Amino acid sequence: MLQLPNQTAFYKGKVRDVYTIADKYLAMVVSDRISAFDVVLPRPIPFKGQVLNQIAAQYLKATEDIIPNWMISTPLPNATIGVKCETYPVEMVIRGYLTGHAWRTYKSGKRELCGVPLPEGMKENDKFPEPILTPTTKAHEGHDEDISREEIIAQGLVSKEEYEQLEKYTRAIFQRGTEMAAERGLILVDTKYEFGNIDGKIYLIDEIHTPDSSRYFYSEGFEDRQAKGEAQKQLSKEFVREWLMENGFQGKEGQAVPEMTDEVVNGISDRYIELYEHVTGNKFVKEPISEQEMTAKLSEALASLN
Ligand SMILES: Nc1ncnc2c1ncn2[C@@H]1O[C@H](COP(=O)(O)OP(=O)(O)O)[C@@H](O)[C@H]1O
Ligand SMILES: [Mg+2]
Repeated sequence: MLQLPNQTAFYKGKVRDVYTIADKYLAMVVSDRISAFDVVLPRPIPFKGQVLNQIAAQYLKATEDIIPNWMISTPLPNATIGVKCETYPVEMVIRGYLTGHAWRTYKSGKRELCGVPLPEGMKENDKFPEPILTPTTKAHEGHDEDISREEIIAQGLVSKEEYEQLEKYTRAIFQRGTEMAAERGLILVDTKYEFGNIDGKIYLIDEIHTPDSSRYFYSEGFEDRQAKGEAQKQLSKEFVREWLMENGFQGKEGQAVPEMTDEVVNGISDRYIELYEHVTGNKFVKEPISEQEMTAKLSEALASLN
């Protein structure tokens, strides 16, 4: 843990180290920790923090015209400073395709997800006629649970008016992300957004469009592979989940995380960097950063805030 000026709280998230500064700002250091099925895996993935932070920063910038967001500056490749918001207790998941958890639910025979009816006759990775919203609760501990819009409103987790606004924002940001991905030969398959509030105004918070919060496919050959019933080429954390599942781990109690050899760890790191380069169009520069450097750069950036 770093010691930053005016630090009033510290929260160690699964992936991010979150420093509250003077009760109103956040300094968020994105670690190399990797989580899957809501469990932090035993070994860090080199440069993963830098990958996530830089992708998120680029997309937050690119969606500012749609919704204000929490980001103020990125003093380091792996850290962002921004405003602290009152968070809404839901994660807004939006899916353009029948993939991952949605597919696993569909395959089990269900034709409804989070209160949204699912069309008959779909195959894995088929596109939905319209992107669907499948929110989850934001659990403080343990697994996030699927929830419907009706339940969110009935339980008073979010007011009806605000929830409708969150839905509108979610669709608009996803649309923008989809267009930006398409320019890079990628399909933004699904993603999740988190929102916060300051003085009645809604902000986009957290990371967006990163491989941890989103799935991407390669556009080229997508239709062909679908027609032939072949697997899609994924650029996302799904390959980590698949590797875990193949080795008997689905985050259920009593299951052990399979051994992460150097080969596995470096393979995952390479995939994150590959994803960075595809998504941003920039060459990735590996920048090892020391704790002293982090403390110095963050302190300097925080000092210039007021
Ligand atoms: N601007 C913000 N204001 C308040 N909380 C935020 C903001 N941006 C992100 N967060 C929260 O910071 C945490 C980021 O750390 P993360 O590693 O994702 O933790 P978690 O294990 O809780 O998902 C999340 O809980 C996220 O909701
Ligand atoms: Mg999180």
